[in-house]
Amino acid sequence: MADILDGRDPRAIARAATRLRAGGLVAFPTETVYGLGANALDARAVANIYAVKHRPRFDPLIVHVADAVFVADYATGIDDRARRLMERFWPGPLTLVLPKRPVVPDIVTAGLDTVAVRQPAHPVALDLLRAVRFPIAAPSANPFGYVSPTTAAHVRDTLGPALDEIIDGGPCSVGVESTVLALDGPRAVLLRPGGVTLEQLESVIGKSDTPSSSGGSARPDPRSPGTLPSHYAPRVPLVLLQPGQAVSRPAKGERVGLLTFAPRAEAPGYAVTEHLSANGDLIEAAANLFAALRRLDVQDLRRVIVEPVPETGLGHAIMDRLRRAAARGRL
Ligand code: TXA
Ligand code: MG
Repeated sequence: MADILDGRDPRAIARAATRLRAGGLVAFPTETVYGLGANALDARAVANIYAVKHRPRFDPLIVHVADAVFVADYATGIDDRARRLMERFWPGPLTLVLPKRPVVPDIVTAGLDTVAVRQPAHPVALDLLRAVRFPIAAPSANPFGYVSPTTAAHVRDTLGPALDEIIDGGPCSVGVESTVLALDGPRAVLLRPGGVTLEQLESVIGKSDTPSSSGGSARPDPRSPGTLPSHYAPRVPLVLLQPGQAVSRPAKGERVGLLTFAPRAEAPGYAVTEHLSANGDLIEAAANLFAALRRLDVQDLRRVIVEPVPETGLGHAIMDRLRRAAARGRL
């Protein structure tokens, strides 16, 4: 079982860096979710990420860099759009998909000719990247298809025994994964809505270049399995209500949970209720989403009724995750 190290302690960073240099696996905090990291230039170390997560080999990983200047070492085609987006949103929750250089092992990109890159904003992630001096390939630190981790304890609970170290950097401030934007063609394509909103992207690359948000979700794309219909799913079945649909009383004797956006005055008949935000704030809701799903998942419930959130700003990413979480069993 991996120890949980305190990310504020420089000795913890040094120890984790040593593990990564030796080809090990280290879970570390980012501002979005916790990542399961390995040296991105070490194909054997990266293979272990897939093994530990039970992640299909066709699902490529994000390469994390300490600074935007390193992107040119791993990718080509860094055009004006890419430069402006990095300038505005890095470090931060935006991943750019660009044509890859041969130095990036095929296992990182699942054989694609593109590579996904991002500079995370969490100080512990940046300390680690600067200490190792190589890029870190990292998916979210959860078993494939399950709810992403937003605390060190979440990581330990599911993947602890398989990891070398877990670095604790506190709860993730954003709480949903990065926005994934493909820039390998003339039109930017949104592969996954995330911590940087469509509105924010639009403010930098202009409306004409911004991918549309039909229904608030990225289009399903075989190149990006984060867009698979079922993903981010707890074991308990979720039932996502339509906007405005009334919350009805569960049948007698059934243990049913309720997840709402803001607190409700009452929810008669529900065994457990959770809300995402005390005052209906989407930023707070995103930060609480995955922890709330995990808490509901251990309550032995028949199902969880989920109220939708407004689809503006971070609401796109939240609803994308909720739809995929609710699609469990309908793959
Ligand atoms: O916020 C995040 O992005 C977190 C933290 C740890 O950085 N990472 C994360 O990784 O969410 P993961 O592996 O759970 O999701 C990466 C997504 C997947 O949907 C994957 O298919 C897509 O990025 N992706 C990676 N490389 C790609 C590529 N070359 N082309 C298209 N999609 C790619
Ligand atoms: Mg993931």
